[in-house]
Amino acid sequence: MKFPILLTVLPLLATPLAAQKAPDLAPTPPMGWNSWNTFHVNIDAQMIIDMADVMVASGMKQAGYEYLIVDDGWEAMERGADGNLVPDPAKFPDGMKVVADYVHSKGLKFGIHNCAGNKTCNGMPGGRGHEYQDARLYASWGVDYLKYDWCEHGTADARETYKTMSLALAATGRPIVFALCEWGENKPWLWAESIAHLWRTTGDIRDCRTCTGEWDMGWEIILEKQVGLEKYAGPGHWNDPDMLEVGNPGLSLAESRAHFSLWCMLAAPLMAGNDLRKMTPETLAILCNREAIAIDQDPLGKQGYRFANPPGRQTWVKELSGGKWAICYYNSTSEPVEIVATWANFYFMDRSKTYAIRNVWDAKDLGTTADSASVTFKVPPTDVVLLVLTPVK
Ligand code: GAL
Repeated sequence: MKFPILLTVLPLLATPLAAQKAPDLAPTPPMGWNSWNTFHVNIDAQMIIDMADVMVASGMKQAGYEYLIVDDGWEAMERGADGNLVPDPAKFPDGMKVVADYVHSKGLKFGIHNCAGNKTCNGMPGGRGHEYQDARLYASWGVDYLKYDWCEHGTADARETYKTMSLALAATGRPIVFALCEWGENKPWLWAESIAHLWRTTGDIRDCRTCTGEWDMGWEIILEKQVGLEKYAGPGHWNDPDMLEVGNPGLSLAESRAHFSLWCMLAAPLMAGNDLRKMTPETLAILCNREAIAIDQDPLGKQGYRFANPPGRQTWVKELSGGKWAICYYNSTSEPVEIVATWANFYFMDRSKTYAIRNVWDAKDLGTTADSASVTFKVPPTDVVLLVLTPVK
């Protein structure tokens, strides 16, 4: 009697597993650079090649930035006679494979953008109805990462539409990170874990702190929308609060530092979105701060959460591997504030242990939690204090 049961159950078990996203591709949040935030559709092959060079020469690659992603604007306005997508001949005269090959030759990975709807947000051909054909084309170019947008989706069901593309990517046999970009409209955190490696949780980010537009908003507005989503992220499946505006004109240095720190606390994908060729040493120092990046990339894969939110002073905490904790105080006011870190308030820590206190942005060790019951920090306007607490005994 055992055999017939096994024979009925096995195919049922095997089918959905075979149909899932490529496994083990994003054990920690993906890191890289994406063309959209600064360049919109004004991109071309030479610029992507230059960006690859800077990613390596600046030390960003060494710091963990791996994917170079070409966003909307790379396509010609029509598919070819064979139905395949065609790169814009003026911007990418030698096609995309040449660019992908160059990116790979620098030890980086290559990503591309398209849309689950009929057209991209800029009117170029979308993937709807062409999923398997497009996935094969991307694989033949050596694409390692696909960001898949949600413009012109009509009445399409998000879950089914994205699942189709996920299956199409899996069918190519090439491991391709699948990044959903449906702006959180259908709460992808509830259904996309088996389909995608990351999913956008909101509309677009803009290079400001608190501004709002019809489709886009500042990073602090996005931060607010992440509260409560922490339970849906983990190794291989991440909430994506959108790409970084670090170093872009609308942000002060303090705002860039705060934005970056909080994205690290959120275990967010870290996709730089500035012009790498023109970045200041201060911007590079933020993007490449190893200790902040280690918080984001911690192998435990836990997204941080907001622990306290008194007016103007948010406290975010993130559990790290090895019993460590990251703590980020954010002063969202336009005045400096004094923040008192009282260790006894952090009931989540192991009370039987003493922790070494490290101030990440100052790169200073501040003794241990046994030295005094609290430490007071002066936090400048729109800036943060980022601490890592490591158990010592
Ligand atoms: C938006 C997306 C942006 C960018 C843009 C391209 O929908 O959220 O990140 O990809 O489309 O048109």
